[in-house]
Amino acid sequence: MSDYVIALDQGTTSTRAIIFDHSGSIVSTGQLEHEQIFPRAGWVEHDPIEIWNNTREVIGQALSKANITRHDIKAVGITNQRETAVVWDKTTGQPVYNAIVWQDTRTQSIVDRLAKDGGVERYKSIVGLPLATYFSGTKIVWILENVEGAREKAEAGDLLFGTTDSWVLWNLTGGVEGGVHVTDVTNASRTLFMDLETLTWRDDILADFGVPKSMLPEIKSSSEVYGTVSASSLLREVPIAGILGDQQAATFGQAAFDAGESKNTYGTGNFLIFNTGEEIVRSENGLLTTVGYKLGDQPTHYALEGSIAVTGSLIQWLRDNLGIIDSAPEVETLANTVEDNGGVYFVPAFSGLFAPYWRSDARGALVGMTRYVNKGHIARAALEATAFQTREVLDAVNADSGVDLTELKVDGGMTANDALMQFQADILNVPVIRPVVAETTALGAAYAAGLAVGFWETLDDLRANWQESKRWEPNLDVIERERTLRLWKKAVTKTFDWVD
Ligand code: G3P
Repeated sequence: MSDYVIALDQGTTSTRAIIFDHSGSIVSTGQLEHEQIFPRAGWVEHDPIEIWNNTREVIGQALSKANITRHDIKAVGITNQRETAVVWDKTTGQPVYNAIVWQDTRTQSIVDRLAKDGGVERYKSIVGLPLATYFSGTKIVWILENVEGAREKAEAGDLLFGTTDSWVLWNLTGGVEGGVHVTDVTNASRTLFMDLETLTWRDDILADFGVPKSMLPEIKSSSEVYGTVSASSLLREVPIAGILGDQQAATFGQAAFDAGESKNTYGTGNFLIFNTGEEIVRSENGLLTTVGYKLGDQPTHYALEGSIAVTGSLIQWLRDNLGIIDSAPEVETLANTVEDNGGVYFVPAFSGLFAPYWRSDARGALVGMTRYVNKGHIARAALEATAFQTREVLDAVNADSGVDLTELKVDGGMTANDALMQFQADILNVPVIRPVVAETTALGAAYAAGLAVGFWETLDDLRANWQESKRWEPNLDVIERERTLRLWKKAVTKTFDWVD
């Protein structure tokens, strides 16, 4: 009897395999972190081979912890860090370069070159995105222009590109022995190459970028059988039936299926997604237009997205680069040693600023420093930065949609931080709500896969699985809220024009 679905969550800092039962509860988890490679300031890379090896290992961990075998697993769902670009040789299965991570800013000169003719918004009406280093398209160009022999091989049809969903799928389905080269609409919508209306690659944009179409994966829906796992894996013959970029997966896992529903995920960065249903809404306020999900042949659901590059990774930075905490959860204890931020604002523009500013010329700033300030204030300012950035994104969502959100559903690692969640509710002035299963990213991928194979029948089945676990009500005086927001916005302006 096949009773479970397994989700593979290939994230920015780790890869996980999570097994879910029919009620959407977690049965077991396998997890391994991978190395973050920083060859130069602004560059961020991952080793795709390490990611693939970790994927295999975490599958084994999850199966053995649950004491089940592939015969108990009905489908595999994949979710992934989006925009991170892998280019590999299909004849050898070897990447030609490390994966260039979504946070990496090395492609600024490529962005500038492309923006000379028509500005950074030149493709926005087609693809929903501004030209920015964030998206995978410019990373492919960098590899073709900087890795010896890459362009020739690409033009000969030997190189494949994929975000890490495609990389994992191709390897799971046999790699050089006939691996399936596919991505889903949500990941494709982050490349700069996909037409949001037709859900196909745009030949004219590919020509402008100089990227051969033969490198690109086939675009499929988020929920259908793409292939089965190859003989060399513990999951052999299990269908792989769902793919969603991690933020869209979290939205799906939060059961935010309909227009007007939304979620905010607190991970390495923060990503607020607002479902606009079957309508493609063009943002006037610095948000991205993206695909939310598409189930098989059913209509496409679109979304507005507020992407924030640095939130959880700022806490890692306090731990790894400043050494003022030994573990990420300690930031709450340290922040609680002080009454308030002591006048300090920390704008973590480490990868420039994403939504709603899209300023690649910005760099991080710690402002308002005095002799009074101690590490407790810095920890507090770092946490508050997450809440302030989210407020600015929520303001943009409200402005674009013309309706004010009345609550915010949240998920992700930092939602375990009580002080942050309370401050978030205070700064937004709306309740913040966390579900029982906070692993909504993996859950969303499991749902997409389970729907495709009939493990779950309808979206209503999934809605019934959603349960509230905790709610934070706003409790901050309006004058204080406005004062601190004003100072935050002033601090943001100090980060502009920092790149020569
Ligand atoms: O767009 C980047 C996003 O997909 C990364 O998410 O959770 O790996 O930080 P996460």
